[in-house]
Amino acid sequence: MVSSNISFDKDDDEISIKEQIKRLVIKNMYGFQTVILYGLGRRLEIFDYLYNKSKYLSDKDEVSIISFTPKELSEKLYLDENYLDAWLHMALECGIFEIDDPVKKTLKTGPHIYELLINQDHTFYVGNMISMFYYMAPYSEFIYNNFKTGKIENIFEFPEEMKKDGHRIGARQATFTEKLFSNQYKEFNKRLKKSGIILDVGCGYGFSLEYWAKKYKKARFIAIDINHKAVTFTKELVERNGWSNRIRIFNISIDEFAHTSDVKFDLILLTDTLHEMDPDEEYRRKALEDLYILLKDDGILLVRESMISDIFAPKKEFQLFDVMHKWLGVVFGSRFYDEESFKKLINSTSFKSAEFIKKGGEYFWAIKKETHETHLLV
Ligand SMILES: C[S@@+](CC[C@H](N)C(=O)[O-])C[C@H]1O[C@@H](n2cnc3c(N)ncnc32)[C@H](O)[C@@H]1O
Repeated sequence: MVSSNISFDKDDDEISIKEQIKRLVIKNMYGFQTVILYGLGRRLEIFDYLYNKSKYLSDKDEVSIISFTPKELSEKLYLDENYLDAWLHMALECGIFEIDDPVKKTLKTGPHIYELLINQDHTFYVGNMISMFYYMAPYSEFIYNNFKTGKIENIFEFPEEMKKDGHRIGARQATFTEKLFSNQYKEFNKRLKKSGIILDVGCGYGFSLEYWAKKYKKARFIAIDINHKAVTFTKELVERNGWSNRIRIFNISIDEFAHTSDVKFDLILLTDTLHEMDPDEEYRRKALEDLYILLKDDGILLVRESMISDIFAPKKEFQLFDVMHKWLGVVFGSRFYDEESFKKLINSTSFKSAEFIKKGGEYFWAIKKETHETHLLV
C-alpha cells in the first residue's frame, strides 16, 4: 500500500511532518552528537576528571553540579585548546554542560549530568551504555561490507577494550538481575548468603562476579571462562580484593570443567553467556546437561539472556538494549532465543522446570531439577 498525505500540522490521530522532524531528525542528530561527544570525552578522561574533582570537593556524594574552566581541562588533561573548544561547543549544544559564569569563563555540568554520565555508582548512570554505542560506530563500515557477504567475525580478534566495556555494561545488568533474584527467592538467598557455593559460567572480566561476591560475602565461588585475557583480568581482580581464599578462577570451557569437577553448586550463573557459546544447538544442549550434573538437587540455574522475538511478533515493550544484541548475532554469530524457543531448549534437557521471572524491564530464568507443579515445562 502506498499513501501520501502530508500534513504540516497535527490532525487528530495523525503525526504531522513537523512532529516527525522533531522526533526523528532533530532527536537523532542530537543523539548522534551526544554519543560521539560522550565517547570521546570519556576516552580523554574528562568525565573521570570531573568525577574526581567532585570527590575532592565533597566525600559525601552531595555534589551534583561540577563547574570548571576550559583552561583547567586543557592543562590538567593535556588537551589541545582548539579541539577542546570544538568539543565544548557541541557539549553545550547537547546539554551536557551549561555556562556557569560568563565573566569568569566557567562552565558547569547540565542538570542530572552528574548522575547520568559521571557518577558510575548512581542508579541512573548510563555512561557505559552510551560508550558502547560510541564503540560501535567505527564498525559500521565492516557491518556494511558483511551485509553483502553475510560473513561472521571472530569475537576473539576484537579489541579487548571494547569487549571489556561490553562486559562492564552487562555487569550492571547483573546488579538488576541479582536484586530481582534475591527478592524472588528470599529463603534460598538466606542459605546462599550463609554458606553457598556458586558457579559463574562465562565470568568474562569478572565485573558481575565482583558484584555477586560483594553481596554474598560468605559464599564461595568458582568462575570459568574460555577467554584467557578476561580470566587473567578476573584473577587480578580477585587478588586485589583479597578473595583468593573463597573465589577460584579457571581458564576452561564449561564442558571441560564439568568433566573434571566433582563439586556441586547451590547456584549456577549463566548471565549473558549463552548467546556467546558455540551456536550449535546440540553443543548448548550438552552444556546445559553438564550444568544439570553440576547443580545440587535443590539448586537453581539462573539464566539471564536477552529474549528477542521475531520482528513481526507484537511488540511488548521498550527493547532497545536487548535488540542491540542482534548486532552481536550478525557480526559474531551469537545466537539468541525468544521465550518459546528457550523453553524448547530447556525441555530437551534433564531440567524439570523453568520459570520466567520478570519485573518491569528486568527478567531472568530460574531453572531447577525439581518439578514444581506450577512451573512445569509443558
Ligand atoms: C558477555 S560475557 C558474560 C560476562 C558475565 N557473565 C556477565 O554477566 O557480565 C560471555 C562470556 O562467556 C564466555 N564463554 C563463551 N563460551 C563459553 C564456554 N563454552 N565456556 C565458558 N565460557 C564461555 C566468553 O568468553 C565471554 O567472556
